[in-house]
Amino acid sequence: MSIHTDIKKVTTHTLEKMKQKGEKISMITAYDYSFARIFDAAGIDVILVGDSASNVMAGHETTLPITLDQMIYHAASVIRGVSRSLVVVDMPFGSYQSNSKEALVSAFRIMKETGAHAVKLEGGEEVLESVKRIIAAGVPVMGHLGLTPQSIYKFGTYTVRAREEAEAEKLKRDAMQLQEAGCFGIVLEKIPATLAREVSESLHIPTIGIGAGKYTDGQVLVMHDMLGINTEFKPRFLRQYLNMNELVTGAVQQYIQDVKSRDFPSELEQY
Ligand code: KIV
Repeated sequence: MSIHTDIKKVTTHTLEKMKQKGEKISMITAYDYSFARIFDAAGIDVILVGDSASNVMAGHETTLPITLDQMIYHAASVIRGVSRSLVVVDMPFGSYQSNSKEALVSAFRIMKETGAHAVKLEGGEEVLESVKRIIAAGVPVMGHLGLTPQSIYKFGTYTVRAREEAEAEKLKRDAMQLQEAGCFGIVLEKIPATLAREVSESLHIPTIGIGAGKYTDGQVLVMHDMLGINTEFKPRFLRQYLNMNELVTGAVQQYIQDVKSRDFPSELEQY
């Protein structure tokens, strides 16, 4: 295993070079300073301040309710913990879909008020004008195709996307258009591995998969899922690296017991 902590700062160009060299890109979500600091020090390439904060931090059922101000709060906290990783911030639902001017103003706010390095937005052809305008202003953009959770009420379910030929063809067109518009990478969420492979091989920019199989140029997971904080969410694509729920429950139960039994604090733990 090679973890390139010798790279001083990961940039969008580093990611493209990694793809050229065939080196896989690691990406994880983070929403606060403390976890961002741990992930950065561990050598993660990209930290995504995902709008999944709406689910895992705020307890909403969907990503729709989170606001631009709330995303900016999370992203600014993450940035303070990072010295090496590239930090990408999700543009939340309702901050870019109206028109390209609104999209540009939202992207400016994210960049100026957080110090983040790039933004991500969901969709293909529908958001192309906004993508082009944000990139023309000097802000790197990551695309997001396949299952795009901000459109959950259009889809109706969180099931695998683009199994049908028409949707797969549209996804391939969208990916190419996003690349031509200047995106530095594209997240592919919950699509068949064969389609993700075809798309990844057709692009010079990296693809980052979640539930998109092994052929994408990198992988992303939501930190709460991979660390086992949220143990009810068990989709097939998820590998859980820790059972943090169990560990934290055990620690807190021990603390409760120590307080109740007067074991804590001891003489040594007081002034
Ligand atoms: O918001 C998020 O966490 C995401 C990932 C699922 C890619 O967009």
